[in-house]
Amino acid sequence: MRIARIVGTCGGPYPYVLLLTSLVGGALSPVLVWAVKLLLESLTGDASAGSARTTAVVLIAVASAGGLFLPRVVVHAQAELNRAVERHMQKEIFGRLGRLDRLSDFESPGFLNRVNLAQRTAHAVPTQVVTGAFGSLQAVTAIAGFSAALFAVQPFILLAVLSVALLVAAVEVVTSRLATKAMRETMSAARRQAFYTMMLTNPTSMTDVMMLGTGGFWLRRLDGDLARSHAALAAVDRTTLRWQVPALVANAAVVAGAALWVTREVVAARLSVGDVTVVLSGIAGLTASFTTTAKTAGNAVKGFMLFDDYLAVVDIPARGAAKTLTRPAPLTHRISVSDLWFRYSEQSDWALRGVSFDLVPGTTTAIVGVNGSGKSTLVKLLCGLYAPARGTIRWDGSSIDGFDPEAYRDHIATVFQDFNTYDMTAAENIGIGDLSASFDRERVRLAAERAGVHTLVSSLPNSYDTFLSRAFLSGDQPQQEAAPVSLSGGQWQRLAIARAFMRDDRGLVVMDEPGSGMDAAAEAEMTDRLRWFAPGAAKVIVSHRMNSVRRADHIIVLKDGELVESGTHDTLMAADGEYRRLFVTQASGYLDAAGAAAVPAPGPAREGAAS
Ligand SMILES: Nc1ncnc2c1ncn2[C@@H]1O[C@H](COP(=O)(O)OP(=O)(O)O)[C@@H](O)[C@H]1O
Ligand SMILES: [Mg+2]
Repeated sequence: MRIARIVGTCGGPYPYVLLLTSLVGGALSPVLVWAVKLLLESLTGDASAGSARTTAVVLIAVASAGGLFLPRVVVHAQAELNRAVERHMQKEIFGRLGRLDRLSDFESPGFLNRVNLAQRTAHAVPTQVVTGAFGSLQAVTAIAGFSAALFAVQPFILLAVLSVALLVAAVEVVTSRLATKAMRETMSAARRQAFYTMMLTNPTSMTDVMMLGTGGFWLRRLDGDLARSHAALAAVDRTTLRWQVPALVANAAVVAGAALWVTREVVAARLSVGDVTVVLSGIAGLTASFTTTAKTAGNAVKGFMLFDDYLAVVDIPARGAAKTLTRPAPLTHRISVSDLWFRYSEQSDWALRGVSFDLVPGTTTAIVGVNGSGKSTLVKLLCGLYAPARGTIRWDGSSIDGFDPEAYRDHIATVFQDFNTYDMTAAENIGIGDLSASFDRERVRLAAERAGVHTLVSSLPNSYDTFLSRAFLSGDQPQQEAAPVSLSGGQWQRLAIARAFMRDDRGLVVMDEPGSGMDAAAEAEMTDRLRWFAPGAAKVIVSHRMNSVRRADHIIVLKDGELVESGTHDTLMAADGEYRRLFVTQASGYLDAAGAAAVPAPGPAREGAAS
């Protein structure tokens, strides 16, 4: 069993400590009951020897002391074991997630649910399984002890108590399965709730909340979801109660019957007063132990069910596990994209429809097209972040599908449209682009200069050590970094570009709208900055501002996922097609804005400018 193996490998001495304490701890209560019986019998003169009295007193002392001491050892050992197991499981989950090689996984709600469950699992399972398994063991030992004691007095009572206690246990197991199922079903709602609370706390979304007055709207959604998941959980509670009541009534009936019987037997002098303790304490002890077993076993069942969710994430098979993945050599000839088809899901439209083109080392290729034409999708496929439905991308003749994804991505420098901002220092925001450089100050500064952000960073309160944050984290920063600074969209974007410059020796450079947050002049200058990458690199720049890419060696035009035109600025203008239409529309927009006459447009220029 996997969980046993995990407990065994990372638990140190604790599983063994727990094994021992559970067995000894379980035996303590029955021993105590038996010792009390002996003591009572020696006092009422049923047993003659004074030595029996001494034995009884010593046993009572030892069992009582053990009963006080052992639970503390158990709690400590369980806590240590839980922590070790949780840490191991978290490492496994995030280790696996960090090595997944397709973004599509993270876009599937089913997958995200499973990840959520797995995370909860890593937190809950150790407690449930460890406490459940060892707690059950302890309770079972106690059951054995009490059963033996009861059996010695009257096998009949034992039988009655056992059957009722089993009933209680069965109810517990069934209902805890129901609870687990309900928890699973409310998982999407829990994720939505996290989203709503984020909407109501994150500064960026709060801007909208304030401006659009959507606070009440999000709250209603949050509350609605909360009400629905609570209703589902409450329904399980009611079912549980309905099942438990008859079992508990049966339990009480057996206790009453046994009490009646034992009293009559003592009055008739067929049993000793000591036997009364054994029967009454025995029944109480047995039912309590059974309830404990049922609870802990129920927890263990929950734990095992949840453990499957953990395995579902940890055991995601590696892509190409069957075939041997190769490491690509540096690019020398070309990257060929042929007949590339892609859609984000079976239900959605094709985002790319049979796109083919080549990227040549030492040249810059621009991808242009209106919003939603598939530019970002295309570059993400180039980076191997999604798998094409049809078609191939070849790197010097070899399909990138056969490459080890990490090794392939090591050849690429990127700035994506949805670039990241890190709640870290400016130097770290840049240096994380190449971890092998270990945040080397010289390289970070050079990258910042190349991205045109060095002057800005130098002017920050702590220069490169200024802590940058979107969220204005507070309180937990060391004194000298006490005041986190936030940047504008365009400034963050330049940091992202600097991050790409940490990888200036890569064979493929991809920049998706690298100047979208900047003014037109700054964006146009971005194309020039591409020269700081390796001269032999194949460079791809995506833009919807036609003017900023007109100097690219090669331009391809996407429309509705199709490559409709390609060539240089001059040939495309001469061709009088989509490119010219887009170019003229934008140019006339600028001229109009400047108050000058619109350029005479040979192409149709009625549709809105690309954005
Ligand atoms: N993660 C995604 N999931 C589903 N659809 C997407 C996703 N990203 C983009 N799309 C869709 O794919 C199409 C192309 O989008 P995209 O490549 O981002 O266009 P562009 O970069 O040219 O503006 C659009 O219709 C867009 O709605
Ligand atoms: Mg885009």
